[in-house]
Amino acid sequence: MQVEKNVDIVTIAGTRPEIIKLSELVQLLGGQGHALLYTGQHYSDNMKNIFFDELQIKPDYDLRCDTSDVNRLKEKMLELLHQIKPPYVLVYGDTNSTLAGALAAKEVGSTLVHIEAGLRCFDLNVPEERARIQIDSKSDYLFPPTELAKTFLKYEQIEDNVFVTGNLVVDVCRRLSRIAEEHGRRDLPSDYLLLTMHRQENVDEPARLEMLMKHLAGITHKIVFPIHPRTKNSLAKYGISLPANVIAIEPAGYLEFLYLLKHCQLVVTDSGGVQEEAIVLKRPCITLRHVSERWETLLLKANVLFPLYRRDPLSEVVETMLAAKIDRNPYGENVAATMLALIKEIAV
Ligand code: UD1
Ligand code: UDP
Repeated sequence: MQVEKNVDIVTIAGTRPEIIKLSELVQLLGGQGHALLYTGQHYSDNMKNIFFDELQIKPDYDLRCDTSDVNRLKEKMLELLHQIKPPYVLVYGDTNSTLAGALAAKEVGSTLVHIEAGLRCFDLNVPEERARIQIDSKSDYLFPPTELAKTFLKYEQIEDNVFVTGNLVVDVCRRLSRIAEEHGRRDLPSDYLLLTMHRQENVDEPARLEMLMKHLAGITHKIVFPIHPRTKNSLAKYGISLPANVIAIEPAGYLEFLYLLKHCQLVVTDSGGVQEEAIVLKRPCITLRHVSERWETLLLKANVLFPLYRRDPLSEVVETMLAAKIDRNPYGENVAATMLALIKEIAV
């Protein structure tokens, strides 16, 4: 791999949500002195390339790791970072690529900036929660999206170099919202609920999946379900089939997904990013978990929790939430520009 030595800032991404959320900032950071390193944790075309194409960024280094193993991701990143020796490394969120990138950055002596710092669901069984805590504790600069996330950092005695920035997802939604209108599909119904589910605690256990199917079958609306590969694998492995009202589709590109989200009656999800996008686009949200780190959406009543083991029907919660009025976005505006200004101040 050809290595460019004059790189001041390396931004690390490895999965679908990182490509999406980092896209605006990466565009603003531009080519000079900045490089985007993609780990390849997500590797399928419909989890990777479609997002680079639609969001119009491309990785300067693609490690093609094809794994979510933290040690392997870290080793591969170290090989490259040792050569580049970037003074600054930016990581986003809480995936294994984020954690491995943070660990590798500190090992080569880079200053580490964590974007989307301070999110907490206070459940250590959630692997992303453990990653978030480790990454925040190692970061030199922290960009929590909201004041609440900043407060959670304070509870862990992290108070220096903390800057509330808003959430980059807002910029991406706003920029692509109009273009997304051209990406509707004729083969899908005009009235539908949108469903996404991929978290390991929900989809790796057949009992949870069976509970989901029971809840979905009780809903009278049609449900469009772009299926994450992890979920698709589990459904096949356990021989679980979807109820008749559920329309399964392949993982959608970002423009198609934005269209589906903008026009759905309501979204049911266990995704972090989708909870955020739902409130930005004013769509009611039901989160299939017993906790969420997106407290702001719950406090504003744009989102409610529905752990799958609840015995009352999901269909009743759907009918209540269809009437939700959503009038506030807690995640700021023009976030990438705010972040760019901060990064310029830090990296002088
Ligand atoms: C990962 C993140 C999760 C994030 C999610 C976003 C970790 C531990 N988890 O979960 O926090 O919310 O990404 O989508 O980092 N697979 C494919 N093609 C791909 C990627 C994955 O087929 O491009 C399949 C593989 O069978 C793989 C499985 O999905 O083993 C799980 O992928 P993995 O990256 O381990 O975790 P995610 O569930 O995607
Ligand atoms: N998304 C997408 N196509 C899909 C499902 C989701 O483009 O079929 C987008 C969604 O708009 C959001 C991001 O992927 O921006 C969320 O990714 P995911 O749910 O995989 O991860 P999480 O946010 O939970 O980490």
